[in-house]
Amino acid sequence: GAPVIADIGALQEGQRLIFEWRGQPIWIVKRSKAVLEALPTLNDQLRDPMSENPEQQPPYIKGVTRSLKPEISVLVGLCTHLGCSPEMKAEIRPEPFDPNWKGGYFCPCHKSKFDMAGRVFEGVPAPTNLIVPPHHYENDTTIVIG
Ligand code: FES
Repeated sequence: GAPVIADIGALQEGQRLIFEWRGQPIWIVKRSKAVLEALPTLNDQLRDPMSENPEQQPPYIKGVTRSLKPEISVLVGLCTHLGCSPEMKAEIRPEPFDPNWKGGYFCPCHKSKFDMAGRVFEGVPAPTNLIVPPHHYENDTTIVIG
């Protein structure tokens, strides 16, 4: 399929834009400083906190943010268990999921949980982190997906 051009010029903190690439939803989310600061505090609850499984992201996506720019997250919006659509629960709040919930994605099908970098928590059915699609910045506000 052809690459998709995503204009993120109007994307505000805490918001998500959704694009379609190869029949899959692509989420682009602008994360707050508080959300970014929470990411490393979650590492010991996650199955693959440093995203060492190379099938989850391109090689240039590294670290706990799993992104080219810290604040901008680009993910395939499909649960890695059986492909349901996880809900975005971006707020940093303790309820309703568990005392350590600091925002992320929750899959209603079989209760898989991911953080705001798409990193999967331990003890849920999803086997891997959410997929980061191949992408690059054409300029500050334009991302090319694919
Ligand atoms: Fe998401 Fe099963 S499809 S937990």
